[in-house]
This record gives sequence, structure tokens and C-alpha cells, in this order.
Amino acid sequence: MASPTFRAPKGTRDILSPESERRRALVEVFAALAGRAGFGEIESPLFENIGVFLRVGETTDIVTKEMFDFHDKGDPPEHLALRPELTASICRAFVEHRPVVPWKVWYAGPQFRYEQPQAGRYRQFTQVGVEVLGVDDPLLDVEIIALARRFYDTLGLGRVRLLLNSLGDPTCRPAYLEALTAHLLDHAAELSPQARVTLERNPLRVLDSKRAEDQAVIDAAPVMVDHLTDESAAHFAAVTSGLDRLGIDYEISPRLVRGLDYYTRTTFEFAADALPGAQNAVGGGGRYDGLVADLGGPDTPGIGFALGVDRTLLACDAEGVFPAPATAPDVFVVDVVDGTHALTVCEDLRAAGLAADRAYGGRSMKAQMKAAGRSGARLAVIVGDDELATGRVTVRDLERGEQTTVPRDDLVEHVRRATAQ
Ligand code: HAM
Repeated sequence: MASPTFRAPKGTRDILSPESERRRALVEVFAALAGRAGFGEIESPLFENIGVFLRVGETTDIVTKEMFDFHDKGDPPEHLALRPELTASICRAFVEHRPVVPWKVWYAGPQFRYEQPQAGRYRQFTQVGVEVLGVDDPLLDVEIIALARRFYDTLGLGRVRLLLNSLGDPTCRPAYLEALTAHLLDHAAELSPQARVTLERNPLRVLDSKRAEDQAVIDAAPVMVDHLTDESAAHFAAVTSGLDRLGIDYEISPRLVRGLDYYTRTTFEFAADALPGAQNAVGGGGRYDGLVADLGGPDTPGIGFALGVDRTLLACDAEGVFPAPATAPDVFVVDVVDGTHALTVCEDLRAAGLAADRAYGGRSMKAQMKAAGRSGARLAVIVGDDELATGRVTVRDLERGEQTTVPRDDLVEHVRRATAQ
């Protein structure tokens, strides 16, 4: 019987070079910007007790439909879940370690959501993000948004819009929800069946419906920014004036609701206009001033964002920016004697910090030169019987087509000079 063949699970994929190098470069850009803004990196587990994630909202799709959860082999077994996002894990870590505030962390890593895969939507995807715990100053909200903005700018993305909203606080939310629910109930007959189901579970999320038949009711719905308490309104005003001061453009998007329930006050999303609507949300975040307390910690305000690496790179593709870094070696070593000279030459070059590659299996000169060309190397170093006899090697500049011979002992220095030009 033939062995079965396997493919990567639905919604996941292998990321091969050079795309993998491009992703690493993107994370390095983010790490540098976050480091400059005073953030330290956090690595937290890929899975947590499921209770941690239930706090992101019992009525959200993420919790009700998309969790990869499982029981471990303990006695009794523990109910765990792969992390669908990192904000809840980081609040859990804060409660566990009680670091000094403000606690400013950045992260990069995979998240897992059991979604219907489509372009830009995966079951395993990568986010980079930051969280700050312990500060309720609206100027921090401005800095957080500015950091995300600088990241997109640094990648070279020119068509990413910032959408901004305030979701108020626990004091103003109930009256707003009452007004919103009344409006939606009055017009329930005009809503799609799906929106009617959402209305029963979480009226706020009806505002997130993209269905054409829901838009008229949504457009006429009351908005949170008209129902803010004086304190939340002042917070929001300080955020917008801070953004103005930095010259960061934004659009107030009063119907912006996010897919997670923990948000209070400032919420924002980044929309890439180079991508189709269904996948244009390249990042989002906001305040979650009640989440640490929900996880059993002291009352601690929090704010952060997560940017989708996969979608951000799709936006880069669409705008033709941030290409994969060059991965070609400096030198390709062609050994037509017995392969052992390629071994020592490559190792000498690598030890000296140069990138060297070679072919294997005693292939012909022609085949090795072809491999050298394919590798994109700037130089080919050729070792043959003639070269061996004279203690010299041939160095061919594959870009210019020039060729010279160099004493074997001077090779590293020669390559260093030639590739520095
Ligand atoms: P989120 O909006 O659920 O927020 O995810 C942030 C970003 O992750 C999205 O804008 C999108 O680019 C990307 N993303 C989400 N789901 C997928 C998917 N299935 N496939 C590809 N990319 C995806 C959060 O996760 C919050 N934790 C953000 C936050 C941090 N809020 C406060 N702090």
C-alpha cells in the first residue's frame, strides 16, 4: 500500500526562503522601533488555561467558535487552548509576576484561530504587537498609535489609514447599549438573520456586520462617541489632539467595534487600501482598562495593539515595497578536484564572516558554474588541478565577467575587499 502523503493543515502554510527572511526582517524592524520606544520583549506560552482567553469575551466569535482547545493528559486533565491573541496572556503574566508599572512589552509570534481560511485569513498567523500596563494617560494612547504608524511608514507602506473610535467606559456603556439595542430592536425586521442572532448575543457587534442589507440600520444607529461621559470624552479629545500635534492622520470611525470584548475608550484599526476589503485590517488595538482586574489582578489600565504580519506583507506586495532581503552568498566555491577544497575554502570564508556556498557530489565544472550563477553569488572561487599545483585559486567576478588568480592564503582578504565594493 502506498504511504499516505500529507499537506500542511488547512489554514496553515510553510513559509519558505526568501519569504521567511522577509518576515524575520519585518520583525527586526518592529523590534528596533519598539526597543527605541522603551519596550522589552516578552515570550509567553503558545497555550494557556482556556479561562485566560474566555476573558476576551464569552460572546465573541474568537471564544465561541475559533478556539483550538484541548485537554492535557493530567489527572484531572487541564482544559487548555492555543492562544488566539496575546493581550489576555500578557495580562495573565502581569498578574502572575506583578512587574513594576508602567510595564511595556513587545512581542512577535504565532496565534491560532479556527477560522474559515481565505486570502489573508489563516488558522495560524503571526502578529507583532505591544502592550503597556499601568498607565491611563491619553498621551500614551497617542504614542502607541504613533509606534504602529512609524512601523508601517518604515516598511514603506503609503496607503494605510488609521481608523479611530472611543468605546467609552463602564459608566457610559450601559446607557449607550440601551439606546443601541432599542434602535436595533425597532429595526430588527430590516436586519439580516445573522445580524438578528448577533443582536441577541451582543448588540455592539451588529455594528461590525459587513452585510449590505444591514448597512441602512447601522448607519442610522446611535454612536458611542455621542454618549461618552465627560471623562471619556476628555480622554478621547486628548488622544485626537495628541495625534494632531504629531501630524498623524486619522479618521474618526464611530462604528468601529473590534472582535474582542475587553476594549474601553480608545480603539483603533489600520486599514490597508491596497488590499481588498475582507482582508484590509492589517492591525488593531486599543485600551482594555478592565482586563487585568477580570483576570484576578489589581485595577490596572492597559493599552496595546497587534499588527498582522501576514496581511501587512500582503499589503507590502500590493504596494511593491519591503521586498525580501537578498540572500545570495558572497562566494560560490567550485571544486573540480575532489570537493574537499570547497569544504575548507567555504569554512575559511564562513569563519571570516563571509557567506559561502558550494555544490556537492563531485559534479562537473559546467554544472557547478551553473549552480554558482543560480545562487546569485557575486564571486565564484574555482579550485582545479592547475590551481592546486600553483597554490593559487581562480576568482571570477560573476557580475562583471572578470577573472583573476589569487594565492590561496590571500583568498579571504581578497574576497573581503572584492565584496565590500
Ligand atoms: P485583532 O484585531 O483580533 O486584535 O488582530 C490583530 C490583527 O491580526 C488583525 O488586524 C489582522 O491583521 C491579524 N489577524 C487576525 N486574525 C487573523 C487571521 N485569521 N489571519 C491573518 N491575520 C489575522 C488582537 O488580536 C488584539 N490582541 C490586539 C490588541 C493588542 N488589542 C490590544 N492590545
